[in-house]
Amino acid sequence: MRKKITVIGGGNVGEHVAVGCAQRELGDVVLLDILEGIPQGKGLDLFESSPVEGWDSNVIGTNSYDDVAGSDVVVITAGLARKPGMSRDDLQAKNASIVKMCTEAAIKASPNAMLVLVSNPLDVMCYVAKQVSGFPAERVVGMAGVLDTARYRSFLAMELGVSVESIQALVLGGHGDSMVPLPRLTTIGGIPLPELLSQDRIDAIVERTAKGGGEIVSLLKSGSAYHAPGASVVEMVESILRDKKKILPCAAWLTGQYGVDGCFVGVPVKLGSKGVEQIYEIKLEAGELDALQTSAGLVKEQQAKLDV
Ligand code: 2OP
Repeated sequence: MRKKITVIGGGNVGEHVAVGCAQRELGDVVLLDILEGIPQGKGLDLFESSPVEGWDSNVIGTNSYDDVAGSDVVVITAGLARKPGMSRDDLQAKNASIVKMCTEAAIKASPNAMLVLVSNPLDVMCYVAKQVSGFPAERVVGMAGVLDTARYRSFLAMELGVSVESIQALVLGGHGDSMVPLPRLTTIGGIPLPELLSQDRIDAIVERTAKGGGEIVSLLKSGSAYHAPGASVVEMVESILRDKKKILPCAAWLTGQYGVDGCFVGVPVKLGSKGVEQIYEIKLEAGELDALQTSAGLVKEQQAKLDV
C-alpha cells in the first residue's frame, strides 16, 4: 500500500516538494491549492514526466480537501512569500490565518497525518498548526534547519572547493537572522572547520547563512527560494515515510530542552515514522546556548502576538 503525501500550496515550493516526493517514489502525491487549475495543471504535467523519468507515483492536483483524505504526511507551504525588504515576521498575521485554515481542513481529512510546516514565519506557523490541530507535539515539525544548514554547507563548499557531501554541519535556532550556525561542530571530511578556515571567513559565512533567504529574495525580486526549501522538505518527508530515523535540524516543540519552553525552534531531532521521535540536547558552549535561547526568545515574542 503506497503512502500518501499532500502538499498544500501549489506555488514554487509546493511544486518542488511534489516533484521530489514523486521522483523518489515516497508515495502518491496530492498537490492542493485554492487557485482553480493551477494544482491540476502542475500535477498532471508532473505525472506526464513519469514515463520519461521512470517513477510510479500517482500525482493529482486539486482544489478540494476531499482528495486529502488518508494522507500520511501533510506539507503546508501555503501563504504569502516575502518581497525584498520584508522580514519573515512581516508575513505573520496573514499567514497565520492561512495556516490555521489549511490545518483545520487538512486534519479533518487526515486526522492521523504528520504535519510538516514550511510557511513563514516558520517557527510561529508550527505553533499555529500545533494549537489548531491539537496534535501531539511529535506530529508537528517545521522545515527550516535542514534548509539553513544546506545553505551553510553550500557556502563552505564554495569557499573550500570541496564536495558538499564532505561537510557535516548544524544550524539551530529560529528560522531568521538570529539562527545559530555551529562552526565548532562543523567538520569537513572529519576535519574540524576551524583547522581549515580563518575565523573571519567563518564569521562571514555564518552571517551569509543567517541572511541566506533574504539574499535569494533580493535577487529574485518577486518571490523567495524554492529549490533548496523544496529539497529540504523532501529529505524530511523521506525520513518520516521510510522510517529512516535521520538526525536532522528541524523546528520542534520544546518543553525545557536547552532551557527553552513553549515554542518551536530548530534543534537536532530524530525523524522517523512516528515523527519527531527524539530531541537531542547537545552540550553547547555558553555563547552558543545564549544565542539559541536569544533566538527562541525572539520566536516567543512573535508567538505572543498571535491571536489563534
Ligand atoms: C527561505 O529561507 C523561504 O524561509 C524560506 O528561503
